[in-house]
Parts: sequence; structure tokens; C-alpha cells
Amino acid sequence: MKIGIANDHSGIEMKQEITAFLQERGHEVVNFGTDKNESCDYPIYGEKVGRAVASGEVDRGILICGTGLGISLAANKVHGVRAVVCSEPCTARLSRQHNDANVLAFGARIVGLELAKMIVETWLAAEFEGGRHKRRVDMIMEIEDRP
Ligand code: RB5
Repeated sequence: MKIGIANDHSGIEMKQEITAFLQERGHEVVNFGTDKNESCDYPIYGEKVGRAVASGEVDRGILICGTGLGISLAANKVHGVRAVVCSEPCTARLSRQHNDANVLAFGARIVGLELAKMIVETWLAAEFEGGRHKRRVDMIMEIEDRP
């Protein structure tokens, strides 16, 4: 899978570890930054990955900030993005099965590295179940088309 990844200043080390983890499993990882330790604005990076997912440049996105919250909110402003914040594997799995989430976010200040790896692995392995869930996901996406 081709995965876009980005983070703010709080997620650099976590991004590097998760990138290596993904590459070891055969995924192609596209890095959208930041790689600088100076304090930066997470909306820039949430939007970059959101646009890459929405355009099809990458298959999925992974975002990391202090909490995962701000960067996911930014990504969700891009049409076509369904970004979720997950701090454990159960919601990560269900976000794929029921919500067809195409961007995963988590907090480098909230989850440890091993838990983050489990969240990522679970999220990438789970498939959207369709059926009644498709109707609901379609309803979510239709909200974007209303003024
Ligand atoms: C940065 O200090 C912090 O606000 C950011 O990483 C994130 O947690 C915001 O939601």
C-alpha cells in the first residue's frame, strides 16, 4: 500500500519509527513532513496528507501530532477525507470496518510506540464491511456537498 505520513513537531520521532515499521512490511511511505524540531502549525500537515489521499496520490494517510486531534480536524476539512483519531486497536479496526476511514491519526504524547504500531497494523489490515455501513458513510460524505 502507498501511505502518506505527516506530523507536527511533536511527532517526528514517532513518524520515523512508524515509517520504518511500515517499510519493513512492504508498504511505500511518502513523507509530507515536518522533519524540523521547531514548533510548527499542524493544519499544514493535516491538509497535505488529506489532499494526497483525496487525490489518490496515496492510498491511505497517517497523521501524528501531540494528541492526533488538531491534525485530524485539519485533514477532515479536505473533501473526501475520513480521518479518525485512534488510541487503541479496537476503534482503529472499527474505523475501517464501519466508517471506511482513509486517514488514521494518533497522538505521540498519548500513545507509546508499541501501541502505535498495533494501532497502525490493525487499521491497515481491516477491510470496510460495506452494506448498511456504506449507506451511512455515503450520508456522511453527502454533507460535504450541502452548502
Ligand atoms: C502542539 O503543541 C499541539 O497542540 C499539537 O501537537 C496537537 O496536540 C494539537 O491538536
